[in-house]
Amino acid sequence: MEVGFTTKRDLCWLKKPMQNKFSTFSVEDFKDTDAKIIHETLCMEISRLFPNAKEIFEAKAELIFAKSEDDLKEGFCISCFENHNVRILASEEIGYLHGLFALYEILAGERKVTIPYTSVPDQSIRMLNHWDNFDGSIERGYAGDSIFYDRNEFRGDYDLLTQYARLLCSVGINAVSINNVNVHHREAFFIEKPALMHIKKIAAIFSAYGIRLFLAINFAAPIIVGKLDSADPCDPQVKNWWTKVLDGIYEEIPQFGGLLVKADSEGEPGPFTYGRTHADGANMLASAIASHKGVIIWRCFVYNCRQSWKDRSLDRANAAYDLFSTLDGTFAENVILQIKNGPIDFQIREPVSPLFGALHKTNQILEFEITQEYTGHQIDQCYLLPMWKEVMDFDTRYEGISLVKDILREYSPSRKNSGIAAVVNVGMDENWTGNKLAQANLFGYGLLCWDNALSSEEIAERWVRLSFSLEEEDEKKMVDMLMTSRETYENYSCPLGVGFMCKPGIHYGVDVDGYEYDRWGTYHYADRNGVGRERSLATGTGYTRRYSDSRFREYEDVNTCPDELLLFMHHVSYDHVLHSGKTVIQHIYDTHFKGVETVEQYLAFIRTLEGKIEKAEFENILERAERQLAAAVEWRDTINTYFYRKSGIEDEQHRTVYA
Ligand code: GCU
Repeated sequence: MEVGFTTKRDLCWLKKPMQNKFSTFSVEDFKDTDAKIIHETLCMEISRLFPNAKEIFEAKAELIFAKSEDDLKEGFCISCFENHNVRILASEEIGYLHGLFALYEILAGERKVTIPYTSVPDQSIRMLNHWDNFDGSIERGYAGDSIFYDRNEFRGDYDLLTQYARLLCSVGINAVSINNVNVHHREAFFIEKPALMHIKKIAAIFSAYGIRLFLAINFAAPIIVGKLDSADPCDPQVKNWWTKVLDGIYEEIPQFGGLLVKADSEGEPGPFTYGRTHADGANMLASAIASHKGVIIWRCFVYNCRQSWKDRSLDRANAAYDLFSTLDGTFAENVILQIKNGPIDFQIREPVSPLFGALHKTNQILEFEITQEYTGHQIDQCYLLPMWKEVMDFDTRYEGISLVKDILREYSPSRKNSGIAAVVNVGMDENWTGNKLAQANLFGYGLLCWDNALSSEEIAERWVRLSFSLEEEDEKKMVDMLMTSRETYENYSCPLGVGFMCKPGIHYGVDVDGYEYDRWGTYHYADRNGVGRERSLATGTGYTRRYSDSRFREYEDVNTCPDELLLFMHHVSYDHVLHSGKTVIQHIYDTHFKGVETVEQYLAFIRTLEGKIEKAEFENILERAERQLAAAVEWRDTINTYFYRKSGIEDEQHRTVYA
């Protein structure tokens, strides 16, 4: 049995195998074919995590995997820790694996839990979306090329993919889409046999770890691939074509999860071409896949990306709400809407999408972005868990179920068709994520989807403990650094929820007016009097009215609108006084100076880690932090200068602003 890996990669949070911890283990089998596969994976993983444990076929092993009477879903119960005997109970075979990884973490990460320790996932779908292209590039990827593709071929490194699958399984991920939602010409053919012969091998690797594989499709595939003259969802020919395509996929990959669709968005084709609704489009695919029990995940990131900056009446933030709230209740039972966390596009600060709480009869997935498109490209460190926690814990203040994390489950007519997805941050870099510290986001994302009650801090602590072997004081400093990094990024970049101000196209580095006179609908409207987008009902675009009454009132009034969202919701003067007591302009100066100072402190701390963590890791983290400092300085000086020139108001502390 091959337990070691041939492709050299960082083992991340699974790097501390515990020799001789158990000498024997036994497994009570579930009786179906999948169970056999998981059993094999389990044996393999035990030999990796607890080397020297031998499988025996009687109940007196030191580590026992047994069936549970209780419904634990994909979860597990770890019981009886006495006499070095451990029992892991599960009601589905995959629960054994999750239990094994949890046990590893308890022992290797010295995690304190109360025994019996039962853990059942809060969200049904816990998914990662790859934006990988067949040529090997990754849209918004910052950690090297694709792990799946290389120059229009399947890379075929199954050892690497196995390492990836185990990392994902160890944090509870159960679904992965493997190609970019912008489905270009070549990838449109992934649904055909020649590609499926490769994809089925990838699917098998993921299946062995309880992860279902999805494909993103091009809505115009009937034309591009099928040579039909239309992709109209109401044309029976089109539906027949999709039905055959899906039959073909399931023939090769019986455990296939379903399709992910970006339609009528940023140039992608969709039902609008034929005067049809998004429900028409999604339901047609849903009915074509229904006999296989697959699902259609339909993205709500739909807006007009060719607007005129001169037209103030159009507000991109309203788009998804206006389109999809009116379609509530019209989607098939196996359609899931995938909704970005905010109404615009993964900025460092956005309000929570008003679609959460507005949909009551539609399956829902919340979409995050782990890959740091707008949050520093994995050059700048930015631990995103605090942001994701805010979104999931956000109280929409609708009556009844009101927290986003509960809405996902409770307002989805089919609970199993609800959950969370995120655009992943991995690539061919040896440490997977470019910046070692960005591993914490992948790790934390999985944990948080599984257990919504975890705090960002606990997750950071667990990641640090599993990834390094630091003294307590350094461990604490590293956790503090992670915990403040989102605020720090926000401090030196876009102030008070205003968003964008980054370099167009690449989205790294500062360019205050980069998008201001463009077609993308992301404007800050800074002039000599003030800054911000007026989105009130009274004098703006009416965005605020798309929330519950209570949230509407809060956001509508400049006096109650939270500071951090002020410039998202309102256009205010530079001398407007925030709840913090500072004027907007002084806040901009202060946060930008503070942001850079904090990055300097991070750098100073990172330098002290030399010799305390592995050399390659040290060099990687240091190199990234040095680049982060350079970027932060540029942000600070550009933003401060820009607003000084616009407002003519001096920094109260007379620090250097380049007039
Ligand atoms: C952002 C991102 C695009 C991506 C899009 C999406 O706009 O910049 O690269 O395609 O989101 O979510 O579909």
